[in-house]
Amino acid sequence: MNNIVVLISGSGSNLQAIIDACSNGVIKNSQITAVISNKENAYGLERARAANIEAIHIAPKQYGNREQYDDALAERIEQFNPDVVILAGFMRILSGDFVRRFKGKMLNIHPSLLPKYPGLNTHQRAIDAGDTEHGTSVHFVTEELDGGPVILQAKVPIFANDTVEEVTARVQKQEHAIYPLVTQWLAEKRLTMIDGKAVFDGEILPPQGYA
Ligand code: GAR
Repeated sequence: MNNIVVLISGSGSNLQAIIDACSNGVIKNSQITAVISNKENAYGLERARAANIEAIHIAPKQYGNREQYDDALAERIEQFNPDVVILAGFMRILSGDFVRRFKGKMLNIHPSLLPKYPGLNTHQRAIDAGDTEHGTSVHFVTEELDGGPVILQAKVPIFANDTVEEVTARVQKQEHAIYPLVTQWLAEKRLTMIDGKAVFDGEILPPQGYA
């Protein structure tokens, strides 16, 4: 059985997609053993409790700096012997030491077609730029913010007069489809990171993953 630990900060709709995929067999031989949030009132913690998954809040203000917080977070994660660590809307920048501890087994989902729009407010930035195409990317986490090798992307259109809410919903629908899939690949060990590149079924993926 593979152990998955999920880090969240908010609603946890991607967490829910992965919970559902573990229970309906899309993700096989895997269980989410803990959900950890930096925000006490993150709705995703309630989703975890409802699924009988240990829900943990670790408050940044109890720690003196980012490194101390990240050390405590890493130790808590390691208690669950994770095969896979999933960042699902975890809205903190992670220190280099933390990232290196989980190298090759930590994934993030970022709401843009990376390398476009790393960072925040991606949907608004895509609308403001007049983009007609937007999307989401699942990538390995490396020390470069939103810069690790992309594994899989999903594209969505942006229509004239779309609101940011409409674009967000369209992107999130795709996230809920692709994040469980990539999680399954990593749990099955079909996916690895070698020399900073994503390798799937023995093939090096192109820099922007599969679109
Ligand atoms: C997701 O859309 C994810 O792509 C984004 O936060 C949202 C979390 O939603 N992540 C980032 O912006 C990371 N930089 P959720 O809590 O409902 O899964």
